[in-house]
Amino acid sequence: MSDLAALGGTPIRTEPYPDWPVYDERDIQAVTDVIKSGRWGGYPYPGPQTAEFARRFAEMQGGGYAILMANGTVTMEVALRAMNIGWRDEVLVPAYTFQATAAAVMSAGAIPVIVDVDYQTFCMDPKAALSAITPQTKAIIPVHLGAEMADMDAIMDLASQNNLVVIEDCAHAHGAKWCGKGAGTIGHFGSFSLQSSKTLTTGEGGVLLCRTPELADRAASLIDCGRPHDKAEKIYTMGANYRMTELQAALGNVGLERFPEQAKQREAMAAYMDEALSEVPGVRILKRDARHTTRSFYQYVFAIDPGVFKVNNAVICYALDKEGIPCDVEYEAMHHYHLFQPKLSKLAVPSAFPDRFDFSKMSFPVAERASEVEAVWLEESIFRAGQKGVDDVIRALHKILDNRDKLAEATKSFQEK
Ligand SMILES: Cc1ncc(COP(=O)(O)O)c(C=O)c1O
Repeated sequence: MSDLAALGGTPIRTEPYPDWPVYDERDIQAVTDVIKSGRWGGYPYPGPQTAEFARRFAEMQGGGYAILMANGTVTMEVALRAMNIGWRDEVLVPAYTFQATAAAVMSAGAIPVIVDVDYQTFCMDPKAALSAITPQTKAIIPVHLGAEMADMDAIMDLASQNNLVVIEDCAHAHGAKWCGKGAGTIGHFGSFSLQSSKTLTTGEGGVLLCRTPELADRAASLIDCGRPHDKAEKIYTMGANYRMTELQAALGNVGLERFPEQAKQREAMAAYMDEALSEVPGVRILKRDARHTTRSFYQYVFAIDPGVFKVNNAVICYALDKEGIPCDVEYEAMHHYHLFQPKLSKLAVPSAFPDRFDFSKMSFPVAERASEVEAVWLEESIFRAGQKGVDDVIRALHKILDNRDKLAEATKSFQEK
């Protein structure tokens, strides 16, 4: 076996994986039409492109009333504010996700309470969530992470027993289904990011799926500088401008035409990856829950056993990357993000409630181990490059295994320097 590319050898793959986002003449035409129409922005909300995208997005996900916003962080803040959740209230968030999930809670003035994730899925552990509930807990934000979905049966039970609002963070789960129900339509709200790396993108953008038209009206007011959107009472709210623009929505409408075929292809290649990875020693495939009936996903996550590989996930990602395989360790455990450290953050919530942010007293072992030792996130582009795209990942992992002693030795001497 030749030397690892990380140690000066020849990479397994030199051909780049396909670019993202993809586009064709339809995107150019759609944007051109909006430019010519003169109605570029999001005011008055909703414009024709926005209304169409909202309707079609909700239809694709299989329910809810969609309000279109600037990104997939304000969507969660707006959902909380639409439920009057704010100062001093507690909101449960998973310990392993992007910091936006918890930052949105603080932007609403509430306290993010971090709970550990499940070993088999790296999504919120419902048992850990249950033990974090206090009389101040008002909402729970499960994140459907990578290619997984949180256990929505357990989370909805927990929420109904404790009177909690459920906001599904579906930034990674466009098109995914749990027991045949679309992600984001199971809880009270579903929050989607359309940022450029996401599998449905408008460059930037977000969708909030609301369970009822009344919630949707409140959300629409909050994103439209407080203008009333309820037909009857015409109530102003303390809103801001979080509207999506017509240019973005036009891209979304074209993206929706391609999405079903892309999702099907990704799902098939993910199943192929499951099979192939199951043969690689030291690799743990995350749980394939039978209730996760449609597996539309953002990135593919697996766990490595450092006892077998002799190095951790960061070193493996480095070595894979040098072999031409795009991947990352992705997220820190939530309590390690600087944003939440009271001494480093000037945000109101950590400063006002320092005891709730004393992370020296907290530990989230599954999330910490995922982040620092085990989790490898494979980029989505790998799943658009046919079987060869997946086969190259497997070949690269075998190459790392064959050269693990050399890699461990090189890592050690690098760390000692
Ligand atoms: C899990 C998760 N939640 C929320 C967000 C925030 O989305 P946006 O960047 O659109 O604000 C992201 C974005 O990357 C994410 O990965």
